[in-house]
Amino acid sequence: MTWMIKDAFLHELLGRMSVEEKAGQLNLLTGAMDATGMKHSGDLDAKIRAGLCGAVLNVYTPAATRALQELALASPLGIPLIFGYDVIHGHRTIYPIPLGLSCSWNLNLLGRCARMAASESAADGLHWVYSPMVDISQDPRWGRVAEGAGEDPWLGSEIAAAMVRGYQGNDLADPASVLACVKHFALYGAPMGGRDYHSVDMSRRAMEETYFPPYRAAISAGARTIMTAFNDIDGIPASANRWLLTELLRGQWGFQGWIVTDYTAVTEMKNHGTAATDADAARQSLEAGVDMDMVSEAFLSELPALVESGAVREEQLDAAVLRVLETKWDLGLFRDPLARCTHQPAMQPCAENRQLAREAARESIVLLKNEGEVLPLSKHATIALIGPLADSRRDMLGCWIAAGDESLAASPLDGFRGVATVVHTRGCGISEADEDLLAEAVRAAKQADVVVLVLGESWQMSGEAASRTDIRLPECQRELAKHILQTGKPCVLVTMSGRPLELTWEDSQFPAILQAWALGTEGGHSLAEVVFGDAAPVGKLTMGFPRSVGQLPMTYREKPTGRPFNAAEKYSSKYLDAPNDALYPFGHGLTYGKFRHGAVSIDSPEMQPGGTVTVSAEITNLSAYPATETLQLYLRDLVAPVSRPVKELRGYQRVTLAAGETQVVSFQITDANLSFPGRDFQPVVEPGDFEAMVGPNSRDLRAVRFARLS
Ligand code: BGC
Repeated sequence: MTWMIKDAFLHELLGRMSVEEKAGQLNLLTGAMDATGMKHSGDLDAKIRAGLCGAVLNVYTPAATRALQELALASPLGIPLIFGYDVIHGHRTIYPIPLGLSCSWNLNLLGRCARMAASESAADGLHWVYSPMVDISQDPRWGRVAEGAGEDPWLGSEIAAAMVRGYQGNDLADPASVLACVKHFALYGAPMGGRDYHSVDMSRRAMEETYFPPYRAAISAGARTIMTAFNDIDGIPASANRWLLTELLRGQWGFQGWIVTDYTAVTEMKNHGTAATDADAARQSLEAGVDMDMVSEAFLSELPALVESGAVREEQLDAAVLRVLETKWDLGLFRDPLARCTHQPAMQPCAENRQLAREAARESIVLLKNEGEVLPLSKHATIALIGPLADSRRDMLGCWIAAGDESLAASPLDGFRGVATVVHTRGCGISEADEDLLAEAVRAAKQADVVVLVLGESWQMSGEAASRTDIRLPECQRELAKHILQTGKPCVLVTMSGRPLELTWEDSQFPAILQAWALGTEGGHSLAEVVFGDAAPVGKLTMGFPRSVGQLPMTYREKPTGRPFNAAEKYSSKYLDAPNDALYPFGHGLTYGKFRHGAVSIDSPEMQPGGTVTVSAEITNLSAYPATETLQLYLRDLVAPVSRPVKELRGYQRVTLAAGETQVVSFQITDANLSFPGRDFQPVVEPGDFEAMVGPNSRDLRAVRFARLS
């Protein structure tokens, strides 16, 4: 019944729309509260008043959205606007950058963070967030790895689904729900050389096995919108790729929502060299399956004439318009268009949200190394807190901070101050050496009991348009580190960055290294909790840290090759000057405490079709206090019609053990875990031998074998 009312309403409305107004609904324009691309939308107010704009990005707050919504309501048809924004890791309360938060491997926490971001954005007039970014990437030169969940498609899929559910909730009309926008479809995480916006050249197999799964998972979880990628796929820009958007996404995957391009991606097709004019680009895009044009205005300016000339069928336009209108209906916009812009929300993160941000930051920190159990530090020690990031609130927030306010964030110094006696000095700038600061830092180190060096990247060094060919710490920071190490004081390195860094030198010099990403509003406090032992680190890397930039791109999920690594054999797959594997592999992350990893066993050497086998691993906490570990299950299909990765994550469990306790942790393996894209790219489960491996990271694993029967 409700469905019939909705359908009748939408069709009646469509029937009253001119072609210009239809093109207007597909026109997404930007306001000026933030700048996220090169082009700015002129005449925003006039276009809205004329009914030539369907949605707006980069405008938020009840007052600002209300002013524009009232213009839309005064337009000839009074169709309300949708307001979208890049709420990537929180809106007012900022939680860790997505790559950091993914290291929690905590889906419940991720979902709660997304829910918090949804309710804060909805209270600020927004309906639509441009998240989750689910682009798998194996190349930390690409600055946008900061926005994703790392290198693994299986974990990436779980995270994508949890985020979508968090944002959208059970009902879009819920005042605390927003539309999710899965991005960037597709393959944006694999630009050549790690250079942002560069072209992508990829096999269908890599697409199916590695890059597509998280987009699919997000769509299965109900994501209502999807954003195209800037790159081309097989020479055809994603925003004009009919195979990708219509045959695959809508046809095979059953996507029912709407497709928006990325910022000016329609007119950028002229730069790709695949469209001669804006009209050509607009036609290609609409025909490929795009519904909404972000900022380029080619749909608005070109579609009416294209329909008029018969180059574009009006039914095609109608289908896109209906998808947008339907979403407006589902958001409750036709019922109460001003619902989200009536009440003044809290401008500051509330205590409850800060608490969640603190939990999220705590769980995102990864202990990379802790030789001699240097960490945690005693609260009675005098600490020299040194480094250009040691007191930077802005850098603690990271890239894309929506309405986040740096003055409300906690830097490492803010966090340490209340806990221990701290002497703080910068030592150098992010990339600029300074003799006086260096001398001051050395003096501070000499007077302290322990040094905590906080080094890494500024917030502008990762995120969009922030690729790097050298992913070591900037030279002046390495110089600072050398001088501090020479003082002979015990020294802990805290690295803040939006990407895995090359830390080979640091690994050889520092006894303890904590990876602290950009942890968000509460970052400094969470860092202090971990450094001083009020909380133990639990994070596990979702992207390996390379030994050298020369290894990139790289992943633990590599294929076996015909000449597998053999140190003693010249003609095997290896480098002359570096090992093959990561310095810190996928899944790596230590905690305070030590474990003994015991035998791994299997309940049956054979698995029936449709049946299960259970793999069990014994783990003992050798420490004198409780400790938490995340055990991981990896599988390998030993013989298959297509070469299968040497290992692939298929499960994990976080367990907390009392002092001295032993637990047996079990994983059930079903056919779903064994499935892979066969020669025809359709999912297949093959009989034959498999290896199941369990351990605390993707490198230190114990294996058992079983056979899947036919
Ligand atoms: C980015 C998107 C973002 C959009 C809108 C683009 O430049 O690639 O991720 O959602 O801008 O701000």
